[in-house]
Amino acid sequence: MRAWVLAIGVVCVAPLLLARQTGTITVWDGVYTAEQASRGRLVYRDHCSSCHLSDLSGAGEARSLADDAFMDDWREGTLGTLFGRVRTLMPFDDPATLDDQAYLESLAYILAENGFPAGGRALTLENVADIRIEAEDGPGEVPSFAMVRAVGCLDPVDENSWRLSYATAPVRTQDPSVSNAEELSGLATTPLGVETFTLVNVYPDPTPHVGHKMEVKGFLIRDPNGDRINVSSVGMVAGACRQR
Ligand code: HEC
Repeated sequence: MRAWVLAIGVVCVAPLLLARQTGTITVWDGVYTAEQASRGRLVYRDHCSSCHLSDLSGAGEARSLADDAFMDDWREGTLGTLFGRVRTLMPFDDPATLDDQAYLESLAYILAENGFPAGGRALTLENVADIRIEAEDGPGEVPSFAMVRAVGCLDPVDENSWRLSYATAPVRTQDPSVSNAEELSGLATTPLGVETFTLVNVYPDPTPHVGHKMEVKGFLIRDPNGDRINVSSVGMVAGACRQR
C-alpha cells in the first residue's frame, strides 16, 4: 500500500515540477492544433451554435463565448475549469453526451475564434488542466464577481463585521464550499500576503476564529474603497496567523 502511494506521488509531482521550471503554459502558447479547431467548427455548428449562435456572440442565458465576455468569465483561470464545465453541462439541452475528443475540439474552436494561436501540440485530457487563460500581456488581477479563494488572518472590524488581513491575492475557484481537511492543512505553509478584504455575509458567526489563519471563498467585489468578498465559506487553516 505504502509503495503505491509513494509511486503515485512521484508520478504526479514530476510533471508539476517540470511545468514550474519551464514556465507556465498559457493559451498564447499554441495549445491546440489547427485540425482540432477545424473539426471543432463542425462540433460547434452541430451542438452549440443553436444557443450560443454561429458567431459565438450568445443569446440570453447562453452567454457569449467570445471577446470581452470570454475573458471576463475565464481569465486568471485554467482551460481545465472551462473544459470541465462544458463537458458536464453542455449542450444545455442534452448535457455530457459528446465524447471527450469532441468536447476538446469544440474548445479548440472557441480558442481559435477568440484569437489564441494554434500550434504543434494537441489539446488533450492530460494537458488541458494546466493551461492558463490570461491576456496577451500577461496575467492580471482576478476581476470583480469572480468566485475566488483567499487565505489570510481573520480580524474583527466591529461587533458584526470582519475582514481578512495579510491575505493572499485572490485566486479563482470553481467550488464555493470549504476545502477539505487535507487542502486546508496544505494551506498552512502558504505565505500570507498584503491584501485586505472586508467580508460580507459571513455565516455562521466567525468570532471563534478571530486571529486564526483562514481560507475564505466567495464572490470578489472590487471597489476603490476596499475590495470585499461576499462570503460563501470559511475554513480554518491554522490556529495562529503569524508572519505579520
Ligand atoms: C440548448 C442550448 C445550449 C446549447 C446547445 C449549448 N449551450 Fe452552452 N450554455 C447554454 C446556457 C443556457 C448556458 C448558461 C447555463 C448556466 O448558467 O448554468 C450555457 C453556458 C455555457 C458556458 C458557460 C458555462 C459556465 O459555467 O459559465 C459555456 C462555456 C458553454 N455554454 C459552452 C457551450 C458549448 C461548447 C456547447 C457545445 C458543445 C454549448 N455550450 C451548447 C445553452 C446552450
